[in-house]
Amino acid sequence: MTAEPLEIYLEEGDLLRALRSDVRTGLTAVPKWLPPKWFYDARGSELFEQITRLPEYYPTRTERAVLAAHASEIARTTAAKTLIELGSGSSEKTRLLLDALTARGSLGTFVPFDVSVSALRQATAAIAADYPGLRVRGIVGDFTRHLDRLPTGGRRLVAFLGGTIGNLLPAERAAFLRTTRAVLERGDWLLLGTDLVKDPGLLLPAYDDAAGVTAEFNRNVLRVLNRELGADFDPEAFAHVVVWEPARHWIEMRLRAGTPQRVHIPALDLEVGFAAGEELRTEVSAKFRPGDVDAELTGAGFATRRRWTDGRGWYALTLAQAA
Ligand SMILES: C[S@@+](CC[C@H](N)C(=O)[O-])C[C@H]1O[C@@H](n2cnc3c(N)ncnc32)[C@H](O)[C@@H]1O
Repeated sequence: MTAEPLEIYLEEGDLLRALRSDVRTGLTAVPKWLPPKWFYDARGSELFEQITRLPEYYPTRTERAVLAAHASEIARTTAAKTLIELGSGSSEKTRLLLDALTARGSLGTFVPFDVSVSALRQATAAIAADYPGLRVRGIVGDFTRHLDRLPTGGRRLVAFLGGTIGNLLPAERAAFLRTTRAVLERGDWLLLGTDLVKDPGLLLPAYDDAAGVTAEFNRNVLRVLNRELGADFDPEAFAHVVVWEPARHWIEMRLRAGTPQRVHIPALDLEVGFAAGEELRTEVSAKFRPGDVDAELTGAGFATRRRWTDGRGWYALTLAQAA
C-alpha cells in the first residue's frame, strides 16, 4: 500500500506565524530562549538522524534494545488496532513495534505525527512500502497544539519515544499528558520513552559529541531563523554549550555569543543584541527517576501497567493505560 497523502494541520502560514511569535517572545526574554521544535527543518531532521548514530548518543540504541526485548509483550498486552507515534521523526525504532503488532494481526493503521514535513514524507513512504496492508496516515502537526486531530476509535496505542517528552518544560509536560489523556478513551495505551537521571559524565558527551554533529544541529535553529525570517545571525559566532542543571535534572543546550552581536530580524521588525558571552537556551532535555514518571502519569489520568529498563538502568519505557 502507498502512504496516504499527509494530513497537514500546520500549513506554511501557521508555521510562520508560530515561529514569529516564539522568536519574538524568546529573543526579547531575559535570559533568551527558543523552543526546540524549530530545529527540525529538513536539515535539522537529517542532523538529528546522524546524532542517533553517534557513539556518544546512547539514548537511541538503548531505547531500541529495550523495545526489541519487549515489543512482543507490548503487542500482546495492548492488542492495538491503531498505533499513533508523536514526534515520530524517521520512525526507525518504531518498526520493532510495527513488526510485533502486525505479527499479532491486530494492527490496521499507523499514524506518525511530526512537525517536520520532510521527516514524515520519508518515513511514511518507507513504511508504507515495507508494510503492505498497513494503512499509513502521516499527520503534520504540533503535539502541543493539535492532539485533538488524532484519529478516534479502535484500541489505540500512542507511542512517544526518543525521550522527546523531556524537551517539554514541566508545566508543558503536565499539559501535554493531560491533553493526551483527554483525547484517549479509557483503556487506550501510552508507551512513553524517558531517559533516566545518571552521571553527568555520561550525559554531557551525548549532547556534545566529538564530531561536532550536535553543535551543528544546535546552530541549525539560527539558520532556520535566517531563512524563514530574513535574520542575519552568523551561526559560527555562537558556540555550542551544554550544561547539566542538577536541581532540575535536565540538560540545557545553549548557544553562546563569542563577541557582542547585533542581529536584525526583518520579518519581526526587531533588532536583538547579544553581549559577549550571552547565552540563548535552545533545548532542555529532562532526565527522570522512575517514580517521577509514575507521579506525572497518575496526575494526568494514566495508570502505569509495566516498566522496562536496560540492564544499566539508563533508559525506561513505560506502558501506561488511560484510567
Ligand atoms: C528528539 S527527536 C525524536 C525522534 C524519534 N521519535 C526518535 O525517537 O528518534 C524529536 C522529534 O519530535 C519532533 N517534534 C519536536 N517538537 C515537536 C512538536 N511540538 N510537535 C510535533 N513534533 C515535534 C521533531 O521533528 C523530531 O522528529
